[in-house]
Amino acid sequence: MRKLFTAWFMLFAIATMHAQDTKMNTFISNLMSKMTVDEKIGQLNLVTPGGAVTGSVVSKDVDEKIRQGNVGGLFGITGPDKVRQAQDIAMKNSKLHIPLIFGLDVIHGHKTIFPIPLGLSCTWDTAMIKKSARIAATEASADGLDWVFSPMVDIARDPRWGRVAEGAGEDPYLGSAIAAAMVRGYQGTDLTKNDAVMACVKHFALYGAADAGREYNTVDMSRIKMYQYYLPPYKAAVDAGIGSVMSSFNEIDGIPATGNKWLLTDLLRNEWKFKGFVVSDYTSLSEMQAHGMGDLKTVSALALNAGLDMDMVSEGFLNTLKQSLKEGKITVKQIDEACRLVLEAKYKLGLFSDPYRRMSNERASKEILSDDHRKFAREIAAHSFVLLKNNEHILPLKKSGTIALIGPLASNHRNMLGTWSVSGDPEKSVSVMEGIKNVAGSDVNIIYAKGANISDDSMLIKNTNVFGPEIEPETRTPEAMLSEAVAAAEKSDIVVAVLGEAADMTGESSSRADISIPESQENLLRALVKTGKPLVLVLFNGRPLTLTWENQHVQAILDAWFGGTEAGNAIADVLFGNYNPSGKLSMSFPVSVGQIPVYYNAKNTGRPYNGEGGPKFKSDYLDIPNEPLYPFGYGLSYTVFSYAGLSLSPAQISPNHPVQVKLTVTNTGNYDGEETVQLYIRDPVASVTQPVKELKKFQKLWLKKGESKEVNFTLTTDDLRFVGSSLRWIYEPGEFRVFVGGNSRDVVEADLSGD
Ligand code: BGC
Repeated sequence: MRKLFTAWFMLFAIATMHAQDTKMNTFISNLMSKMTVDEKIGQLNLVTPGGAVTGSVVSKDVDEKIRQGNVGGLFGITGPDKVRQAQDIAMKNSKLHIPLIFGLDVIHGHKTIFPIPLGLSCTWDTAMIKKSARIAATEASADGLDWVFSPMVDIARDPRWGRVAEGAGEDPYLGSAIAAAMVRGYQGTDLTKNDAVMACVKHFALYGAADAGREYNTVDMSRIKMYQYYLPPYKAAVDAGIGSVMSSFNEIDGIPATGNKWLLTDLLRNEWKFKGFVVSDYTSLSEMQAHGMGDLKTVSALALNAGLDMDMVSEGFLNTLKQSLKEGKITVKQIDEACRLVLEAKYKLGLFSDPYRRMSNERASKEILSDDHRKFAREIAAHSFVLLKNNEHILPLKKSGTIALIGPLASNHRNMLGTWSVSGDPEKSVSVMEGIKNVAGSDVNIIYAKGANISDDSMLIKNTNVFGPEIEPETRTPEAMLSEAVAAAEKSDIVVAVLGEAADMTGESSSRADISIPESQENLLRALVKTGKPLVLVLFNGRPLTLTWENQHVQAILDAWFGGTEAGNAIADVLFGNYNPSGKLSMSFPVSVGQIPVYYNAKNTGRPYNGEGGPKFKSDYLDIPNEPLYPFGYGLSYTVFSYAGLSLSPAQISPNHPVQVKLTVTNTGNYDGEETVQLYIRDPVASVTQPVKELKKFQKLWLKKGESKEVNFTLTTDDLRFVGSSLRWIYEPGEFRVFVGGNSRDVVEADLSGD
């Protein structure tokens, strides 16, 4: 009976969807029959009037272009009144009254800012991440936006690249889970709802693999590597129903993504069945000229032929497609197809029935930065922090005694939000000092000293301060600042040093060759360590940093990324033990820059270094170890979790015969806490060489002090598949190894046979 009902329900749902599609198609065909070629090309044009833009070109005469029907969408403005004004021009003064679609970079929250995405990914909590996207969508839509340029799902193995801050780290499995969660959070179950926004997965594709970690640099990669490690998160976003895709700046197989037909049509549309529209990145269309692909007309035709539907800011489509049509370089059918996809997006967003549905002063004033949103921001920030070291349990701190709170990021609002928080107001954020005061209570005495500037390097300061004074060097000398800090440390029971990067030392166009804590702050830290006082280092950073010296000399290190609006409160919650840290790294921390790229799912090589015997002739370095300083999946807790009793039942797997992986995790320490149990596999013999470990499952677990819980995972042969030489995911029977642990290095293991 139940089965019958489910089948009936499915049929009903399919029939309803079909009827809706037919209705949409009829509406759009009818509209397009009234449109000139120019008006159709106009829909393919995405403009920005300015604001926080990422290129030297901004769109001109925007109002007039809207009136003329030369604009399909607009980004860079926010707020119900401003957006309404622009929509009014389209609705009242253009011939066809086609509504504009309004987009923006809403990356980790709109006005209530959550941790940077790299931090969010360290929660390994897809439900929380989905909720953060849902809240972002609620705020953004109240503020007039239909469309967000998120999630950014570029896998990255090079922390020199500043945009690692915007992604979910190095692993395709975790990255895919997060990509899908974010899409569902933004888009909800019904895109026409006033609080749903269309998501845009970016940057398609492989943008995170720029040579040498240098922004916008060339990418070159084998297909096998692409398919197995880099493409899955984009695919996961497509499978989750994402409405739009942004093409990336880089080239793939020698052809820039924005003009790459294999990528945008063969793979995305034909293989993955993507049904939404593709937008270029900021002038990535016209930039194909500098790549060496021809003049603006040539690259615009190339992009349309490749499968690009909307041109962000270049106006190559607007100014050259008509001519290319005359010359037979493109067809009307291609313009029609692109135009239809853009109009479909507007239809799906409900803009034709109410072009003003996402502009609500009432909603904006009630929902934006609401108490509930801030409360959740504080919670998720605390979950994102990673405890890298905690010798002799110096954390959590006691709520009594004297704390020397030191460092340029200790009493700072400007840098709490992190990169890509265009709508966030740093003044609404909570500094670490304020957070500590809120949480510690009156028995704690705080002595504050800045101690150093974030950096004294004039080149770094100039290049970081592009969007405002994130680094504000003082007129006092470094020596004067330092001696004040040392004096404060000497008077204290414990030092909390809050150091790291300024917000825009990561993010777009923020590659660094040296990824250590800036020298001015290193000097401060060394002086503080010399005082002999116990020291907790709280780090702000948008990328893995090199922390080899710090790891040796400092008692405790808490990586707080950029925690967002509630950063200070969340940091204090963790420092004083109101929340026991549970974050796990989604990206390896190198011992030194020379190790990069260093990532956990690496291959063995023919001469693996196993730590035995002399280093020659093995795959290693003479001067540093192969292992990263902190591996993928790593993160401590105030308590300790032990893993025992790993069993596989049965120990034989085959298609349709899954295996239950079972083990017991016990909280053997002194605090209640949360653990992320991670399951990895290895396929030691295969027709294509496989990595030494690959994440396949994870589970979050809350355990009271002393409590044990049984953890169960189901493994199927799907989890053992890899990309074969044919570029298909295949399962090859044979022997496998299963690992379970609290990080990718410290694991218990068992054998598994596959038929
Ligand atoms: C970035 C994108 C962003 C776009 C619009 C580009 O420079 O690469 O991530 O969405 O600008 O602001």
